Amino acid sequence: MSHDLKALTQQLVGITREAGAFIHQEARAFDRGRIEYKDLNNLVSYVDKEAEKRLVERLSQLLPEAGFITEEGTTGEQSDPNGLNWIIDPLDGTTNFIHQLPIFCVSVGLTQHGKPIAGVIFDGNRNEVFSAWEGGGAYCNDEQIRVSPAQKLADSLIATGFPYYRFEGMNKYLDILQSLMQKTHGLRRLGSAAIDLAYVACGRFEAFYEYNLNSWDMAAGVVLVREAGGIVTDFYGGDEFLFRGDVIAGCAMQPELVAAIRDYWDR
Ligand code: IPD
Ligand code: CA
Ligand code: CA
Repeated sequence: MSHDLKALTQQLVGITREAGAFIHQEARAFDRGRIEYKDLNNLVSYVDKEAEKRLVERLSQLLPEAGFITEEGTTGEQSDPNGLNWIIDPLDGTTNFIHQLPIFCVSVGLTQHGKPIAGVIFDGNRNEVFSAWEGGGAYCNDEQIRVSPAQKLADSLIATGFPYYRFEGMNKYLDILQSLMQKTHGLRRLGSAAIDLAYVACGRFEAFYEYNLNSWDMAAGVVLVREAGGIVTDFYGGDEFLFRGDVIAGCAMQPELVAAIRDYWDR
């Protein structure tokens, strides 16, 4: 692409921080009466929607030629499959936000021809901004980050997301969970897929897996993990994760985790 991806990512950091500041200002006085249900257990608030509007406005100025894929639908369907697209989750971890559990973030990725090439995740609760662009490495604030050096599943702490709607894969998911409990250091469910991926990128988790995700949950995190030296695939070890929703991201032990998951997922 003809743009300076590093400069673009740095500007994206500023824009993501602004949206995060708005979310934190609202968090202090959040009124649970203003929650809406998009679906079973799929919650949204005016904070998600307003943060998204602000992001779209600023990003349209930053890169007028790019399309959008956004969780809250601010732009309607305005993506360009052959060009550049911003993929936005204005507030990842909405259920945590609503319950005042301080694990949520803003996540914005940029794709080109459907491939994530830059991403920023801002966690205002810890004042950590994770950023990465293709070929440029991955960073937490200003420090370069790398995935964990662990080589084996047996030495790994794994993040996941529980199914909370569309329960059709749940039994297989529970079999996987049961098996991994016995093969790893343990499992965690933080409630923000974007933070899970950022934590894989900086080595706090060795790996993360979940199914039924949306592209906005992962677009930024995928770039972070890859640029930090990690591996990202779908549940079959392929490349279909972004728009199909099943993803496994991890350090050197990722192929071992793919094999462990696939064993049950294929049945
Ligand atoms: C959710 C979070 C959660 C994951 C869900 C996502 P939201 O996003 O990332 O960790 O398990 O699948 O939908 O709704 O809080 O933006
Ligand atoms: Ca999300
Ligand atoms: Ca969200």
